[in-house]
Order: sequence, then C-alpha cells, then structure tokens
Amino acid sequence: MCGIVGYIGSRQAAEICLSGLRRLEYRGYDSAGVAVIRDGQLQVRKVVGKLANLTAALRESPLPGTTGIGHTRWATHGKPSVTNSHPHLSCDGRIAVVHNGIIENYGELRNQLEAEGHQFRSVTDTEVMPHLVEKYYQGDLREAVRRAILDLEGAFAFGVICADEPEQLIAARRFSPLVVGIGEGENYIASDMGAIRPETDQVYVIGDDELALITPDDIELTDLELNPIDRQVFTIPWPPEAAQKSGHKYFMHKEIHEQAEAMHACLAGRLSNPDEPIILEGLGMSEQDIRNLQKVVFTACGTAFHAGMVGQFIMESLAQVPAQVDLAAEFQVKDPVVLDNTLAVIISQSGETADSLLALRDLKGKGARIASVLNVVDSSIARESDGVVYIQAGPEIGVASTKAYTLQVLTLELLALHFAEVRQSAPPEQIRALKAALLAVPDQVAELLRREPEVKQVAARYYEMDDALYLGRGINLPSAMEGALKLKEISYIHAEGYSAGEMKHGPIALVDPELFTVAIAVNGQVYEKMTGNIQEIKAREGPVIGVANDGDEVIAQQCNDVLWVPSCPELISPITVAIPLQLLAYHMADMRGEDIDQPRNLAKTVTVE
Ligand code: M6R
Repeated sequence: MCGIVGYIGSRQAAEICLSGLRRLEYRGYDSAGVAVIRDGQLQVRKVVGKLANLTAALRESPLPGTTGIGHTRWATHGKPSVTNSHPHLSCDGRIAVVHNGIIENYGELRNQLEAEGHQFRSVTDTEVMPHLVEKYYQGDLREAVRRAILDLEGAFAFGVICADEPEQLIAARRFSPLVVGIGEGENYIASDMGAIRPETDQVYVIGDDELALITPDDIELTDLELNPIDRQVFTIPWPPEAAQKSGHKYFMHKEIHEQAEAMHACLAGRLSNPDEPIILEGLGMSEQDIRNLQKVVFTACGTAFHAGMVGQFIMESLAQVPAQVDLAAEFQVKDPVVLDNTLAVIISQSGETADSLLALRDLKGKGARIASVLNVVDSSIARESDGVVYIQAGPEIGVASTKAYTLQVLTLELLALHFAEVRQSAPPEQIRALKAALLAVPDQVAELLRREPEVKQVAARYYEMDDALYLGRGINLPSAMEGALKLKEISYIHAEGYSAGEMKHGPIALVDPELFTVAIAVNGQVYEKMTGNIQEIKAREGPVIGVANDGDEVIAQQCNDVLWVPSCPELISPITVAIPLQLLAYHMADMRGEDIDQPRNLAKTVTVE
C-alpha cells in the first residue's frame, strides 16, 4: 500500500506531487509528505492524516522547487505520526526517499547502520533506505541506490532524490508497482498510471529489479547490473477525466452508476449474439487446452474472492470441470496439490494485490497454467500470467469495490460459458439462453440504478442499527458475503454474510429486533428454502429486507422491506442482486456521515502480505 509520486522538470514539483497524491490517496491516508530540492537544499513537509492536511500545510508554507517526491502512507511499521511519515531522510538531510512496500530485513540493516554511526529518527522499515544510500553515496546517486537495493530483502517501489544532484530522480522497484511518466522537458514517477494521467498518457511500466535514472529530458532504464533496458512506451487507454468524480459525491457512487455502460464494454467483441460463440481474446488457450482441463482453481482476495466463488459455482455447473476457490492469503500457508492440466484463475481489480501475486507464483511454480481476470492493464499479475481477460471496468478509485465486482462476475460467466461451449458440457439451449440473458444484463442493471430512490428509502429505515446478517445460498452465498463486506467496510455496521443453510447452526442465536437481516430470495433452486429461513427470522422478531424478483407477493408479505430486482436465470443473478446491495451499503454509510471513498484502516490496493 502507500502511494508514491515524483516530478522533475520546470514546474513546481510540490503542486504536481500533491495532485498525483490526490489520485493515489485510495492507497492509504494515514499521513502524507513531500520533499523538494531548492537552492541545493532538501525541504520537507509532513503531516498526519489525509492529504487535505498536507494541502493546508503547503498553502501556509509553500515549498518552491522543480524536483520533488511525495508519499501518502498506509502504516505498516510504526504508527501514523509525522516522524514515521515519508519522505525519510539521510543523517545529513541531503537524501530523501519515498517507499511503497516492506523491507523485510530492515531490523538487521538498521542494527548494522546504527553500529556504523547512522542515526534513525523513525521506527519505520523504510528509513534504512536513505541511510544505506548515504552510506554508498560517492557523487553518483543511481550507483548508491543500486548498491543499497542489493542489500534489501522484501518489496519496494522507491523514489529517491539528493540535494547534491538536483537534476536527477532515481526510481526502482521490486514487487511493488511503479511507472515512469514521459513528458516534454519533464518526467514523473508514480505508483500507478492514474496518478499522472492528467499530465501524460505515455508511461514506462517498471519491472522487478529495474532502475530508472530520470532527468527533465531523459529516462534511462536499466537492470541492477546497469544493462540498458529497451522498454516499449505504454499508452494509457483512458481519458484524464476517467479519474474525476464527475458531479457524484463519492467515487463509489460514480462507479456504481458506471456499471451498465461498463458491462456493454465488457461484452463488446466477446458476446454480441446468442447464436455466435463467445470469443475471449487474451485467454491464450486453444480448444484442445480447454478440453484437456482437469481442474480450475480460482484464487483472489476480498471482493474479488467473492467473484471467484461465483466463478467456481458456474464453472462446475456449466463447464463440468472440478473447480475450487481459495483465498489467496491462505495459499501461502498450505501446500496445495496441483494436478496436470490445472488452470488457475487469479482475479484482481488492481493486478497488484500481494497475496494474489504470491498465490499466482505458487500455482505457476507447481505447473498450473495461469489465466487472470483483471482490470488494471499491464499490472504485475498481468505480466506473470499466461493469459489475461480484462474486465474493462475503467479506473476504480473508491476503496469499496463495486463495478469491478460485477464486471468480474460477468467476465467469469463468459469464461464458464466459453468452456461449456468448447467442452459441449451443457445443453446448447441452456448455453443459448444464458448468453441471451447476459446480453440483457446491462439494461437490467441500468433499470436497477434508476431504482436508487427506493433503495435509499429502505436504507433510511435501517441505517441507525448496528448489526446485520446477510443470508444467501448456492450461487447467491457470495452475494450475501459481498453485500455484508460492502456494508461493514464503509458504514462500520457489523455485518456477517452467511449461508442461509448454516443459520440454524449458530447465527440464528443473534436474531432479535435489533439486528436486521438481508435475505437474498430470488427465483431458483434455493428459493423455497430461503422463504423458510425468512420465516424463522420473522418468528424471532428479526426485521428482514428481502432481495426478490419483481412482483414476488410471497416475499413482499414475509419481509419488512424488499429490494426488487428484475428476473433473470439464477446462474446470472449475482450480477443484478449486487446492485441494490451496493446502493444499500452506500446510502447507509452516507446517512451515517462516513467518508465513503476512504474508509478507516483500509487501502484500495493491498501490496503487502
Ligand atoms: O485489487 P484486488 O481486486 O486484488 O483487491 C482485492 C481486495 O483487496 C479488494 O477486493 C477489497 O476487498 C475491496 N476493496 C473491498 O471492497
């Protein structure tokens, strides 16, 4: 986590860093800082809390200068404080470093450096870096950074400047994301492309153990032996305004409302007609590869894991391949058996989630073929995958994932149907009907978004309650878990997503008039069972919000309130069900006055294990 930016050119570096940090704030907002070189000296401003505090500090006391680096922090080592904030400085205050990642051997390095006389100010892992660079510095900043990196274990993306070489900005990466933006007479670094998109659409994506020596007019990329790297320029495929709120109060709200259009983009070129086969470019699998599959393993974190649960369900149901779904973080603590002809599907919005990347490497090392379902183009996971299917959601900035989730599910539906077509594992009329239903989904989602005022009215009746239970079953168990995750992460209402079938094995003990239940009871094989569960909750005086298909009188009578969704095949229903649950969470959090795009303790991209 954490976001880094840097600028070198002829404009005011602090302003450009601040504007880039605003677009990176989703990565962490415990503290922030900038360092700028002016008249051969480094000057630093650091504050605790959100970027607004840094903006105010810089307004009060500006930092002029045309070479600078900036940082927004999600604390790992050391509590949020000015001292622990980045940029960190060398003893003589002439070298400044911003860092995203974790230096694992920092304890040992710190002991050595302290024994050599270096004085530390913070308790962070990062601070070893400016002291190491200082130790190796002999008039060549890149060489000092290179030697320092050779001592490091762990993950990093660095920006380094030195008051003695004001016309240089050095960047380096191992494991944590980093791009170098290309300008005219000016250049940039950032943790992601979105941060510098208003400045340029031309970037180099930096790879592991690569260094960049950046001046206003040149960018030199090398490996750690200083061999030149000939990297292709990547053109950022979306316009600068994609990262603006465009009149919405929060990015989350904007992103919820972008879903119908994004679904059209996701389907385009892949499924246009129920009578034509699905085309998934980028997957990189021949029909024979698909027929040979013995197993599909889905792995991901958080919201993407919930999408993976849907993926597992439909893969078995339609493609008739044994499928499993695992939390990426759990992969590292077990030793999974990988069969021949196993496909691992890594699902990630950012493509940078550390646990997902490590799971990928584990599975690849054991011989699995890797197909990833990603949003951000050219991410670390993309580069290490054998094939990538992009969900085409456009930038997602709100920490709470919304459009990425529904687009991940839509993409996984396409994947399962594609496999089913090739393997001839489902009746052609079922495949045709599901394809027709998928083509109708964007319009159904648009209709659901028009129903926002009704969801808001329901939210108004429950937002002051402190506990919630989300129940679903079968393919909508992940919908219940995702609905609960959305609510808890932005509103801080305690919410649990549970299998309705498990309710009698424990959670029903919680039911009373002070806990509300959201019960997903759309048409399908679990409908009758869900209505039974709703009765059991009502018998214990628990208020219930049903999620049901339009016109369902049974649910209308049973539940206190209903969130209505248009009818569609059950296998596709997680997409439509997600929309009112996202809106419910959003409006409850908004009514409670929470900062929806920046929930406490969270960061959008979790680049640490
Ligand atoms: O970028 P990723 O999809 O790999 O992120 C995985 C999770 O960190 C993410 O889905 C998280 O759970 C969401 N922000 C929750 O809304």
